[in-house]
Amino acid sequence: MNRFDDQTVLVTGGAGGQGSSHVRAFHAEGANVVIGGIDAGRGAALADELGSRAHFTRLDVTDEGSWSAAVGAAESVYGTLDVLVNNAGVQNPPVPIESTDQATWSRILDVNLTGTFLGIKVAAPALRRAAGGAIVNIGSTMGLGGTAHYAPYVASKWAVRGLTQTAGLELGRDRIRVNAIHPGVIATPFIHEPAAGATAAIADFYSPEPFAIPRLGEPADVTRLLLFLASSEASFITGSEYVIDGGLLLGPALQAAVA
Ligand SMILES: NC(=O)c1ccc[n+]([C@@H]2O[C@H](COP(=O)([O-])OP(=O)(O)OC[C@H]3O[C@@H](n4cnc5c(N)ncnc54)[C@H](O)[C@@H]3O)[C@@H](O)[C@H]2O)c1
Repeated sequence: MNRFDDQTVLVTGGAGGQGSSHVRAFHAEGANVVIGGIDAGRGAALADELGSRAHFTRLDVTDEGSWSAAVGAAESVYGTLDVLVNNAGVQNPPVPIESTDQATWSRILDVNLTGTFLGIKVAAPALRRAAGGAIVNIGSTMGLGGTAHYAPYVASKWAVRGLTQTAGLELGRDRIRVNAIHPGVIATPFIHEPAAGATAAIADFYSPEPFAIPRLGEPADVTRLLLFLASSEASFITGSEYVIDGGLLLGPALQAAVA
């Protein structure tokens, strides 16, 4: 008996760094997995590799029609939708607020915030038809404070927290739980690609060396927490937020530097 037998899980950005780790783990725990995303090549390849309990659907999270099609695909292929993971996200190039153009601001807010809003809006009726389920929103430790040069990203992830709490309140009586995970620095293209062309200061920002657990997070670290929150083991948890950052938010572990 697996934790997600007979359940269907939709992961947005499911072909990407953390997303593919989540998809593989849900699949290994018995779920039907729907890989939603804009990267059709990688998404379809992952679905082919996993086999009959995996399906790729093109999903641009900024588009409500695309969401309706994806949720419809989950229900028509597998019968129900039980879990939604709002994982898709994009980060802005690091520049000060004064140099941030409105198009960049809007694009980051569209994917990270509006995408999460639309996901909750469109998936909620399907989760209700399944007699309950779980939504997990992927936020960021950057949504818990300020980070210079990342205003659009920071603002979008702060807002996901308010959305998570509000959805938790609205959907709890329908047995739909809504929680958020705030990863610290996780080793995916998300940090490696911007860091490649970034200044030394930005590269240092991603360095784990000063922190209590001096390594980058792995997608699997986030996946394990996600599976717990999505499972019935977390049946009394809603509207909650979980930081998984190896101690990043604690600040530098100075005693380690002295020793
Ligand atoms: N990697 C980190 O250090 C880190 C830290 C904190 C939070 N996060 C968050 O984790 C989540 C996953 O990021 P990742 O690290 O796997 O990065 P990633 O860049 O590998 O994955 C992001 C995924 O989102 C998808 N995506 C982008 N725009 C989309 C759209 N409009 N519609 C559908 N999918 C879209 C991409 O195709 C990709 O698959 C994101 O929400 C990100 O903000 C990442």
